[in-house]
Amino acid sequence: MPKDFLSAADLDAAAWRRMLALARELRGDGDRRDLAGRTLAMIFEKPSLRTRVTFELAIAQLGGRAVHLAGGEIGLGSRESTADVARNLERWVDAIAARTVSDATVRELAANCRIPVVNALTDREHPCQAAADFLTILDRRGSLDGLRLAWVGDGNNVCHSLILAAARLGVGVRVAAPRGYEPDPAVLAGAERIAEPGYSAVVVREPADAVAGAHAVYTDVWTSMGQEAEAEARRRAFEGYRLDAALLARAEPDALVMHCLPAHRGEEITAEVLDGPQSAVFDQAENRLHAQKALLLLLLGPEDGARGPT
Ligand code: CP
Ligand code: NVA
Repeated sequence: MPKDFLSAADLDAAAWRRMLALARELRGDGDRRDLAGRTLAMIFEKPSLRTRVTFELAIAQLGGRAVHLAGGEIGLGSRESTADVARNLERWVDAIAARTVSDATVRELAANCRIPVVNALTDREHPCQAAADFLTILDRRGSLDGLRLAWVGDGNNVCHSLILAAARLGVGVRVAAPRGYEPDPAVLAGAERIAEPGYSAVVVREPADAVAGAHAVYTDVWTSMGQEAEAEARRRAFEGYRLDAALLARAEPDALVMHCLPAHRGEEITAEVLDGPQSAVFDQAENRLHAQKALLLLLLGPEDGARGPT
């Protein structure tokens, strides 16, 4: 395992598969106390429901405890430098999960302490979401072999982590995004460099071209946290990228509907699709807990945790 989980690319293929297997094992085992006495500091510069609750419960269910720190409260980078915050925290806690506005901030935290740092969402990536997403797909399909994933909408942080995880796991991805909202070419190039057999990524303009024959169709909000000033322009740009029943009908008949949540029904996805029979969105939300328990065990755990099934 690497020291940190800052990017979905940080786990190699074997570590990704080990994490997914351990998450499935942990789901059925409420009695593990491998992290008894260990503490996780959680820094949030942006709002959160899922990430906060699931990290807090993940460490608690493994016997440890979490300390929640709002970015404004500790003055990350203003009252005190990010590096000094990291140097303090490592004296008291065993790991840090941080949701920061800028990806550079979470990297600066990691570079300035010896304890594991986990990216709990930045402007560039959301690797913990990808962990839960591939766990959800694995649960539903039984295998990731031959999987074709479609992304419709903004080539954003969630999309980036999904692409990088897909590269590690050998999964094919087709992204449909309007001009100017494609995934960062540097992420696509990075994914190519780490790709396992089976991975491919194609960026297209037409949602129907991405969704055709897909086993899972993923979308996310058109305006991510911090982009509120662009909301109107984004609504115009993404009109035509709504995941509705007609678009979903182009995918495989049993294709999963995926969304990291929070969702805006009637904007990026219709209520009919989000709340419909193909939707896996609340399984994804549940799996944040199981995947993050596995991640914490692998990053922090004693040897038995790290040994996990392969
Ligand atoms: N999906 C997700 O990360 O949700 P929160 O922003 O509520 O944590
Ligand atoms: N792309 C969204 C994901 C929220 C979990 C955002 O960054 O706001």
